[in-house]
Amino acid sequence: MNAIQALSKRVSVAQLTGPDLTPDEEEKLFLAALRAPDHAWMRPSRYLTVRGDERQQLGRLFLESTDNWQTLAEDKQTKLLNMPMRAPLIVIAICTVTDHPKVPREEQLLSTGAGVQNMLNAAYALDIGAIWRTGDVAYNRKIAAGLGLKDNEEIVGFVYLGRVNTTPKPVPELAISDFVQSWPIKSS
Ligand SMILES: Cc1cc2nc3c(=O)[nH]c(=O)nc-3n(C[C@H](O)[C@H](O)[C@H](O)COP(=O)(O)O)c2cc1C
Repeated sequence: MNAIQALSKRVSVAQLTGPDLTPDEEEKLFLAALRAPDHAWMRPSRYLTVRGDERQQLGRLFLESTDNWQTLAEDKQTKLLNMPMRAPLIVIAICTVTDHPKVPREEQLLSTGAGVQNMLNAAYALDIGAIWRTGDVAYNRKIAAGLGLKDNEEIVGFVYLGRVNTTPKPVPELAISDFVQSWPIKSS
């Protein structure tokens, strides 16, 4: 697949399955992620991988870090426990935010987000299914601490990766003219 095709046709895949990604595939994904643009070469991004039985440990962390989890309805508890089981591999994208005279926090987070997007595009080009997820679990500081994040580190996304055994959804047809205008905009 050529690059333009991958960039313009990529879709997220929510339902993912094994077999596991190969070491070579994983290396390609991380090489792509590490090519994210990065103002002042701060290298704000790092990634954790969670796979195999460790996904159950992550599910327990999701559940037990949720406020008043013991009183949650059983189906909600099960949902949190099973979240990491939705794919054979989860990559947790983390931004280490530090003070810099020219690079505000937002730009550091954007750089990690660009790394995630590079990974999604590379996955699509390699025929690997992927989806970027956040939700409450991404912003819960107890979960961050349980993963070993420092106070200045933020979860930018959980990237779920695996094999595709469903028909991918169609690419939405968006009209460029609805999103792109020449400036100055002429009043009609
Ligand atoms: C920062 C971010 C967080 C997201 N979090 C979730 C999420 O928690 N759950 C979810 O189903 N989709 C989430 N999405 C959306 C999916 O990743 C995906 O983009 C969406 O399903 C549309 O599919 P597409 O990428 O094929 O257009 C998130 C997207 C972004 C950019």
